[in-house]
This record gives sequence, structure tokens and C-alpha cells, in this order.
Amino acid sequence: MKFCSLAALVGLLALSTTSSACLLPEERENDGHIRAIRGRQSRNNGTPIGTGDRFNRGTVAPRGLGSQGSSTSFSTILNVNEIASGLKGLASTYGIETFTTPYKTYQGASIQGAIVGGSGGRCKDAYRVFLNGNIHARERGSADNVLFFISDLLYANKTNAGLTYGSKTYTAGQVKTALSAGIVFIPLSNPDGVAYDQSSNSCWRKNRNPASGTGSASGIDLNRNFDFLWDFTKKFASSVRSSVASTNPSSETYHGTSAFSEPETRGIKWVLDTYTKVRWFVDLHSYAGDVLYSWGSDENQSKYPSMNFRNSSFDSVRGILSDTPGTRGGYGEYIPAEELTTQTTAASRMVSGLTGGGGSQYTAIQSSDLYPTSGASDDWAYSRHFADPSLNLVHSYTIEFGFGNNAASCPFYPTVAQYNANMRSVGAGFMELLLAAVELGLGDKTTC
Ligand SMILES: *[C@@H]1O[C@H](CO)[C@@H](O)[C@H](O)[C@H]1NC(C)=O
Ligand SMILES: *[C@@H]1O[C@H](CO)[C@@H](O)[C@H](O)[C@H]1NC(C)=O
Ligand SMILES: *[C@@H]1O[C@H](CO)[C@@H](O)[C@H](O)[C@H]1NC(C)=O
Ligand SMILES: [Zn+2]
Repeated sequence: MKFCSLAALVGLLALSTTSSACLLPEERENDGHIRAIRGRQSRNNGTPIGTGDRFNRGTVAPRGLGSQGSSTSFSTILNVNEIASGLKGLASTYGIETFTTPYKTYQGASIQGAIVGGSGGRCKDAYRVFLNGNIHARERGSADNVLFFISDLLYANKTNAGLTYGSKTYTAGQVKTALSAGIVFIPLSNPDGVAYDQSSNSCWRKNRNPASGTGSASGIDLNRNFDFLWDFTKKFASSVRSSVASTNPSSETYHGTSAFSEPETRGIKWVLDTYTKVRWFVDLHSYAGDVLYSWGSDENQSKYPSMNFRNSSFDSVRGILSDTPGTRGGYGEYIPAEELTTQTTAASRMVSGLTGGGGSQYTAIQSSDLYPTSGASDDWAYSRHFADPSLNLVHSYTIEFGFGNNAASCPFYPTVAQYNANMRSVGAGFMELLLAAVELGLGDKTTC
């Protein structure tokens, strides 16, 4: 008894001093009615959601913090209509091409994105970096960070200026280099969830699909719905299953009825199937102050190529981190050494941008070090070239921006100061990623 409570206390301390990323400590292991436990201790919802439309129905282009002075700050979060209006404003001002993924959400919303830079034009092969925002609804500022960053790039490019985020400055030449990578972006990949979260302040994480239940049992955790070891009840050790995902519709990590059961995740797959030369992918989450790189299933290893997610001999041991890969049945997820080097090199670059941009220290870690997961977007994107060698290698990351707001009803709702610092952080983090991608490699030459 004594031992148990001590272990629980140590666990809690570890979580509060390190990070809990997209999940709160009580949401991690608790495969059940989480919302009931949390309650509403505070009426403070952090930075207010904007009302109206500051981009005037797509006639005004957004401009981010990096292209304005260091004393500029935004006081409200973009509402769902403004995100769409802002994207339209970029298209009308800079002539960028927008797209709508083929799958409408449960509530009939479209998921929209755009392509910028590259060698320009409609050649789909020219787009090599994919930035995705707000797949988790409550992670406020995610869509804003993606949209305002692209806005900064376009404004700086047009005016031949550089960008400044906190202590990080980039020249006009670096802006053009960053754009030359060719960027596909979706600011808001979970529009139903964000609309609901913004109207209810309910700390809503999932989408709004009611197929599996009502109330907290509605919605699927989109970041457990990708086709990477999705069927965790078979693919992971029984001792870790309750934390990698959940089959309980009331859980925050409910993985849905099949991999890619959701229109939002299918939309992301559509992007990689359409822009087939994408080489770098970032899914933007909050909060933990981390850059996570693959793998998320287990610790990495570069020694045993057949010890990997496709090999069912390891299904009963996958996800156990305390073992040693290759000894006594211990498992580690295979990553070729040179791909690991590239992954970690770019991760360090992002850390330098995120830290310098916002002024707080970020860390690069392997995803599974946070906690093992199944069905996450970054692992799926990176796994594609192993599962089907005809597909492109995609170096994939999760950025967990920010450090949380403990005074708010939901810690994912930033204060105004945090909202602005996060945006500067992510702006510089994205700049470093684009510059690193150009240096480390964008893949094949564009032939069209
Ligand atoms: C960047 O600016 C140049 C002109 O300096 C322009 O030709 C190009 O289309 C711009 N790129 C984007 C993505 O707007
Ligand atoms: C896993 O990756 C880390 C870098 O994050 C590296 O230092 C370590 O050697 C790798 N583990 C194995 C077993 O290769
Ligand atoms: C799976 O792993 C087992 C045990 O190491 C090995 O004998 C087998 O060859 C592997 N299978 C594949 C398809 O790589
Ligand atoms: Zn998240």
C-alpha cells in the first residue's frame, strides 16, 4: 500500500516536472471517464477567441509576428471562420494555390490547405515540406501558428525583407531559401473539434464523430487513427496497451473503428498521396516544449533490420521501454543509422529555433521517450517507405509547442503572453526546419 502510493507520487512528480505533451497526467493511463475527474476548477479560458473576421472575408492577408516589430502582439485567437478567411486572404493577396481535401468532416466542414514556394506552379512534385496544424482541437494557437508563419514568409518574400522571431533573425535571402523547399500546409485539420472547443471551452481533444457514442464518448483521437500499428490490442505488449491508445470511446485516446476511419486523417493521407515527393513532415501540437522524432512505438535501434513494426513475432513485447533490443526477446523499432542522424540533426535545428524564438528551452527527444503510442501521424508518415518501398521517405516530427497554462480551465489554453511567445517560437522552429531541409536534402530533383 505504502509502496503503491509512493510510486504514484513519484510518477506524478515526474510528469509535472517533465511534460505530459498532448495528454494530461490523469488522461494518460486512465482508460475511462476523464472529463468527470477533471471538473471545471477555473473560469479562466486564457486568450479569448476572436469574434468577427479580421481578414474581411478573405480580402485581407494575415501577417504574422515575424514580419512586424518585437513589440507587436496579438490579443485573440483565430476563430474557425477566420482561419478559412485568412487562407483565402493569402490566396487573394499572393496568388497561392489552395486545395480542399476530398473528405468532409462529420459536420460537413471542408479541410483546406495550400501550397507555396517550390519551383512554383502546379507541379505537385515541387512541394517537399508538409506542415499540419490543430489535429487536436484544444491545442489553441496551433492553426494560428501555421497560418501566420506562412503569412510572414509571403510578406517578407514580397517586400524583400527578413524575419525576426525573438532572438532569431533571418535574412531576406533565407526567406527565399526557405520558400524554395516548397511547402504544403493545412492550418486546421480538425475543424469540427476546434469549433466545438472554441464554443464550449471544454478542453476538447478529439473530432466530433458521434458514431461510437454521445457526450465524452463521441469523437475519435485522430492522432491514434493513422495506419501505424493501429491495432494496438494485438501489436503491443499487454502491459503497455492502456497507455498507447484506447478502444473505449470515452477515452481521450480512443482510436476509432479502423485505421483511417476518419475523414480528417484520410485528408492527411491524401496530401502525402497527392504531393508524393514530400520529404519532411511536422504535425504541430501542444504542449511540452519538445520536438519528437520517430519512433513512437518503442525505443529505436539500428542493428536488427527485421525487428520492426511489420514483424508480428514482436507483437507481445512491443512498447516495453525497459528492455534491451536484441537480448532476451527485447524489442526496439528499427531505424537505419543514417536516417536517424538526419532526423536528429533537423530536430536539433528546430530546437534552436523554438528556443530562440520564444525564449524558453525546448528539447528534442524520441517520441517513445514521452510515452509509447500507436497510430500517430508522424510514425505513420515515416513508416510509409518501409511498408511500401515505392513511397517516398518522409522525415517526420511532432512539435509540442508551449509549456501549458495551469491557471486556465484547460492547460492547453495559453495566456496572451504565451500565445505570442508560442507563435514566435514556432515561427523560428519552422524556419530552421525549412533551412535544414534544404541543406540536408529534399529528395529527387523536380522533373516537371
Ligand atoms: C517571392 O517573390 C518573388 C519576387 O521577388 C516572386 O516571383 C515569387 O512568386 C514569390 N514567391 C511566392 C511564394 O510568393
Ligand atoms: C536511439 O536514438 C538515439 C538518438 O536519439 C541514439 O543516441 C541511440 O543510440 C539510439 N539507440 C539505439 C539502440 O540505436
Ligand atoms: C521477424 O523476427 C524474427 C525473430 O527475430 C525473425 O526470425 C524473422 O525472420 C523476422 N521476420 C521478418 C519477415 O523479417
Ligand atoms: Zn496534440
